[in-house]
Amino acid sequence: MTILTILEYPDPRLRTVAKPVEQVDDNVRTLVDDLFETMYDAPGIGLAASQVDVHKRIIVIDVSQERDTPHVFINPVLEGLGEEAPVEEGCLSIPGYYEQVIRYEAVKVEALNRSGETFSMTATDMLAVCIQHECDHLEGKLFVDYISPLKRNRIRRKLTKAKRARA
Ligand code: NI
Repeated sequence: MTILTILEYPDPRLRTVAKPVEQVDDNVRTLVDDLFETMYDAPGIGLAASQVDVHKRIIVIDVSQERDTPHVFINPVLEGLGEEAPVEEGCLSIPGYYEQVIRYEAVKVEALNRSGETFSMTATDMLAVCIQHECDHLEGKLFVDYISPLKRNRIRRKLTKAKRARA
């Protein structure tokens, strides 16, 4: 397995809208394995293929304390359920920043699994929030899009500066 490079905001490639996976083949499964490896290594609780510059509709998630409950969703379709409420979110592509975002408290998601079979599940709590966050990535959307332009510009400036300092 390979640890992939995670794109960081404001990299414009994060704005790409991902394309549906036409067939879940070995190439897709290898990518799924690499996404998990990259997410666990980061460490993070979710990762979208978009974040490693692969613009296919694939997300991986593990919100468990023990890091032993991997979920993969290929071509996910979401339906928000219940109330919307503010939650604090971070993102591996926006390292070090956490902001309040409004999310549904539960979601119903239909997707393909690692074998290419359709499944559906209802998620609540942190898993529901994470699914909404990762699905946004597939649309080229980031959590900073929900906050004030003032805060967003400040984060953009600081991350751009930090990147320049590393180069
Ligand atoms: Ni993210």
